[in-house]
Amino acid sequence: MRRHLKKKTVALAVLLVIGGLYFVGHSDFLLVGLGRSQEPVPNELKWQAERLISNESWVEQGDFLPFNISYQLLAGAPFTQQRFLAVGLSSVKRTKGTYLISTLQSLFSQSSPEERSSMVVVVLLAEFDVRWRVYTTKEIKTAFSSELEQGQLVVIHVPEEFYPPLTGLKRNFNDAPDRVSFRSKQNVDYSFLIHYSAGLGKYYLQLEDDVSSAKNFLSTIKLRINEQNTKKTTWAMLEFSVLGYIGKLYKSAHLPLLARFLFLFYQEMPCDWLMTHFRLVMTQKDTILFKPSLFQHMGTFSSFQGTYNKLKDKDFEEGLYSNPVADVYTNMSTYQKNYPKLAWEAGEGFFWGRSPEKGTYLTVVFKDPTVVTGISIETGSGGKDLLEAAQVELGHDVIDSGKEEKTCKTFQLLGQLENGRLELQGIDKKHGSASSCLRILVTAGQKDWVIIKKIRISTS
Ligand SMILES: *[C@@H]1O[C@H](CO)[C@@H](O)[C@H](O)[C@H]1NC(C)=O
Ligand SMILES: *[C@@H]1O[C@H](CO)[C@@H](O)[C@H](O)[C@H]1NC(C)=O
Repeated sequence: MRRHLKKKTVALAVLLVIGGLYFVGHSDFLLVGLGRSQEPVPNELKWQAERLISNESWVEQGDFLPFNISYQLLAGAPFTQQRFLAVGLSSVKRTKGTYLISTLQSLFSQSSPEERSSMVVVVLLAEFDVRWRVYTTKEIKTAFSSELEQGQLVVIHVPEEFYPPLTGLKRNFNDAPDRVSFRSKQNVDYSFLIHYSAGLGKYYLQLEDDVSSAKNFLSTIKLRINEQNTKKTTWAMLEFSVLGYIGKLYKSAHLPLLARFLFLFYQEMPCDWLMTHFRLVMTQKDTILFKPSLFQHMGTFSSFQGTYNKLKDKDFEEGLYSNPVADVYTNMSTYQKNYPKLAWEAGEGFFWGRSPEKGTYLTVVFKDPTVVTGISIETGSGGKDLLEAAQVELGHDVIDSGKEEKTCKTFQLLGQLENGRLELQGIDKKHGSASSCLRILVTAGQKDWVIIKKIRISTS
């Protein structure tokens, strides 16, 4: 059935293209045949043909399925030029704890001037209480006058009359009526926000109004997009946080579809479920999630009736910590896929080894010699699997025997782990030259297994 339809569409498109070309190439004939008053016809045909044969332009047109909404611009300048990234968030009145201003502060302060100039943040004040909107708009204008002036921030609202019914809806999943109203309105809020943001950036990032962002998140996102585009992956959504509707990235060309999708199914299920369905219909089978997370909830109170929100993204590292590039080796017995490298890399991963013997090690070999100024090592989890007896050393002169493992020729002692931890600063005062290795050497065997959770260094 589908195949049949597709064939028909293609045939029609081909006909229209041929028709269009024919008319363009034979305008004399056309003028004779149809008369001068019919001149616009060729354009009309050509436009329809393009709509049918190019998916991308068809989607970009955004004029399928009328979506007739008027937006109120509460603050900021209307759109002038397309940026790299549009960031959308929607905010409503909360009974406890409001984080909108801090969320915006975090977005801007974690970005460099260059990053700020290639993004625009769109805030939808989706609250029907006009006093709250006036108050919040004033607050935003005070705190972000320069961002508003530079077109980096836009505040909008959609009047209630444009919303579909929000009460008396279906009670899927046996949700309470007020819960259904809340989540259904949220879908429409996002739909309107996404529709508005469609042309503002090449890509669109969905956030919530209570998140803190990692440093230079925009550059990380750019890097990830480039990777996907080089790999020629089919993707509809990249995820920079595992939480609800936070840190999800879309291509702008898909936004007119997404806006309509959320609108059409607004009363069926919560937005983060719809979002998964959208990814699937756009033929992206698996999630593409990047670690560490770039966004984290600040709010401990959810906007729905001030219920306590326990969700924290455990993959989040503020400041997007990154150690220098290095290889990591161990001769402790590794449990499953908890490789030693995971202790070195940012993110939730860690090294997990079976009962280490005396003399076993975990060695980090830097790609380039590095002056280490500070070290922080954390082992164990919840008081278990601490590394009880080990010393930490810096090494010089890489031995590369051409075999799988590298190490250093000489090592100098820095200190011992105490209660499974070590924190050292100002290391360069004593060891000023560049090092090539960092080694954790087990000084007494232990029965307990060992988790090396984090090894972080600072460099000069
Ligand atoms: C769009 O909505 C406005 C106001 O509700 C209405 O006056 C107008 O006719 C609508 N346009 C279309 C094309 O439906
Ligand atoms: C780990 O390597 C050290 C140093 O080469 C060696 O003394 C020790 O026996 C090794 N232990 C295991 C379990 O391989």
